[in-house]
Amino acid sequence: MSHPAARIFLSGPMGSGKSTVAKAVAARTGRPAFDLDDLIETRSGKTIAEVFSERGEQGFRALEREVMRELLVQEPRGVFALGGGTVTDHGLRRELLNQGVLLTLRAKTSELARRVGHGQGRPLLDGQDVAGRLRALLDARAAAYGESHGTIDTDGRDADEIAASVIALADEPPQVVPRGEQTYRIEVGFGIRGRLSERVAAMASSTRMVLVTDQNVGPIWAQGLRGDLILAGREVQLVILAAGEQHKTLASVEQIWQAALGFGIDRGSGVVAVGGGVVGDLGGFAAASLLRGIPIGHVPTSLLAMVDSAVGGKTGFDTAHGKNLIGAFHQPSFVLCDVELLATLPDAERRNGLAEVVKSAWIEGDAAVVQLERDRDALLAADREATMAAIRMSVRLKARIVTEDEREAGSRGLLNLGHTLGHAIEAQMGYGGVRHGEAVSLGMVAAFRVAEHFGAGSAASRERAVRLLSGLGLPTDISPYLKDEVFKFMTIDKKKRGDDIHYVLPGEPGHVTLRALPLREVIAALRA
Ligand SMILES: NC(=O)c1ccc[n+]([C@@H]2O[C@H](COP(=O)([O-])OP(=O)(O)OC[C@H]3O[C@@H](n4cnc5c(N)ncnc54)[C@H](O)[C@@H]3O)[C@@H](O)[C@H]2O)c1
Repeated sequence: MSHPAARIFLSGPMGSGKSTVAKAVAARTGRPAFDLDDLIETRSGKTIAEVFSERGEQGFRALEREVMRELLVQEPRGVFALGGGTVTDHGLRRELLNQGVLLTLRAKTSELARRVGHGQGRPLLDGQDVAGRLRALLDARAAAYGESHGTIDTDGRDADEIAASVIALADEPPQVVPRGEQTYRIEVGFGIRGRLSERVAAMASSTRMVLVTDQNVGPIWAQGLRGDLILAGREVQLVILAAGEQHKTLASVEQIWQAALGFGIDRGSGVVAVGGGVVGDLGGFAAASLLRGIPIGHVPTSLLAMVDSAVGGKTGFDTAHGKNLIGAFHQPSFVLCDVELLATLPDAERRNGLAEVVKSAWIEGDAAVVQLERDRDALLAADREATMAAIRMSVRLKARIVTEDEREAGSRGLLNLGHTLGHAIEAQMGYGGVRHGEAVSLGMVAAFRVAEHFGAGSAASRERAVRLLSGLGLPTDISPYLKDEVFKFMTIDKKKRGDDIHYVLPGEPGHVTLRALPLREVIAALRA
């Protein structure tokens, strides 16, 4: 089950209806309603206009922050109508995103102007050219309003209809990667692929678009989604790539480029990748480079793509020199994880994704690992709720880490747990010779050994991880892979700097560190 948010924060410009909608949502859901401006007036004994004229905007914002933070401490549940500018404070906005569901109400500027009249009692509207002032405020706040769990249109809708949209989003909140106006959301649910046309409409203005998939996923899922998009008025160029890691090559990227350009895409066009991590990485790279960058939306169809590759914007392809050595960062516009699509995923591929889930849980902490240990059989049996919980945990972690460190200058490196030896094994076996998740499982076991050698991990942790991985049907015997041919690929891995290699060392769950280690000693520790 997804967890409905206990707190709902309603943001948006003056006149967007925050207070009225908050009361309507409160009445329907039994949550208490709070109005931040009213609380500030009560606290200060003054009207908002008076606080503004006495303290200036900065003084007002400081008081607003204080009152909001107190509310967060005191009220675990509620519908909170924020002030129009509350979310312009970066720190407070990020807190609100983490502590509940933050929604932006929007309306056309002309409609906002009609609703606020002459702007009396609203200090940022000076009574003259209200529409012009509103437009300027909306421009200045576009990035702040963009960072929300969702935007709800209020034009031509009454408070009850808007409240219904708010409640729907609060009942099943997406995960957010806040990036100003480029903010994107990861939705996880069962049967939610019907939202694709709506998400594409928000992503791309041109009717012409490209849908990338592979030979396995194409006939089962992508053709149907293409039909939906056509019904919604899109012209769709379908690109069906050969399936598998061995086709994660420049030739496949070129196939997408040629099809897209031949179809006459323009800068308003977008790409949608429907498939596993290979399709996502290739589609993402093609989108990053086509016309110097057009948007990409992901509909991941493998567990691995849902829990890992569709989030975070890494794209690229393999060469004979190693995996993913050529690529680009290109963040998606949306990610729709419909777990119903996993119904056709072969069991071996499901296990493959579970390796990345174990990795995420170990970085996240003990509660996440305990949950996996408890859900082990349900996960293997493709139980819907257990699978959704595992996806949500992984996506939450990944979204948090890529928000902190989009381009892997620091904490994002932790997500490479198990990938150093994992990539080397994949490269040595020839792409497609071993599954990515299997290689990551082996790589994690190796990482525990290295961690023990360097005093960052324990035998007990290693044994616990091995039990969990093997219980999920993943390989854990690394001895056949500890050979020169594999180590050679560790030396070209891009995480190596000079004679040192950047290695992710797992200790107890939640205690995973990134260290620069002498490559020679790492290899000696693995051989020991
Ligand atoms: N970009 C990133 O941040 C990131 C992170 C992790 C992994 N990756 C990359 O992801 C790739 C691995 O992803 P993957 O494991 O999804 O591989 P994949 O894309 O090759 O998919 C695995 C197989 O499952 C099939 N498949 C996928 N969904 C299906 C479905 N619903 N029904 C039936 N068959 C289905 C595919 O056709 C393929 O044969 C690797 O190339 C790895 O480097 C990227």
